[in-house]
Amino acid sequence: MPSNELNVLVINSSARQTDSVTRRFAEEMLTELRQQHEHVTVTQRNVADNMPFVNEKWVNANFTPDDQRSAENKSTLLFSNSLVDELKLADIVIIAAPLYNFGIPASLKAWLDQVARVGLTFNYTENGPVGLLQNKKAYVVIASGGTQIGSDIDFASDYLRHILGFIGINDVAIISASQFNEENEQTTVNIRNQISELAQQAVI
Ligand SMILES: Cc1cc2nc3c(=O)[nH]c(=O)nc-3n(C[C@H](O)[C@H](O)[C@H](O)COP(=O)(O)O)c2cc1C
Repeated sequence: MPSNELNVLVINSSARQTDSVTRRFAEEMLTELRQQHEHVTVTQRNVADNMPFVNEKWVNANFTPDDQRSAENKSTLLFSNSLVDELKLADIVIIAAPLYNFGIPASLKAWLDQVARVGLTFNYTENGPVGLLQNKKAYVVIASGGTQIGSDIDFASDYLRHILGFIGINDVAIISASQFNEENEQTTVNIRNQISELAQQAVI
């Protein structure tokens, strides 16, 4: 069992605190990681509560070069900076993402808007944008009711893969709780199998 520290950031975005499928399987992923690894440090970020949308003040502060930012600009970016720092520290990011109206929850998009920061998590270069985050894995737990995850009308999976790659997280595995039905035991078994297989490969 590896003894080096494994930092795990868990991003929950279901509006439901209880009976949430994505929260449940994100937790199971975490439990599996703990079984595979001796020292796991966990940071929980529940974006479903109080994740601010970027506004004009934020945009102006963000696009002012760092060395020209006023005290107000700096204070506007403090929370966003802390979310970026939290993400930078993580070796593994578990994202629990329910499918809401064929896409990701607005709260998760709000978090992504806070952490996709030019100069911090990506840069523009002559060859196009380059993600600045390195050596991270993401496990994305996606649950849906009727929509098949991976189908043409699932606008969450590819989007999350794209935006995570954009900021440098290219190693992304989707744990699909597609059309999840509690009463069908096989669906739970399938998800558990996905989780334990991925957790065994996760050891770093
Ligand atoms: C606001 C809202 C929108 C939803 N939109 C969809 C949808 O477009 N497609 C779908 O299959 N399920 C949809 N669902 C069902 C959820 O994806 C499903 O209940 C999932 O388990 C939610 O994740 P959670 O259990 O972690 O809360 C929606 C649920 C809510 C609350």
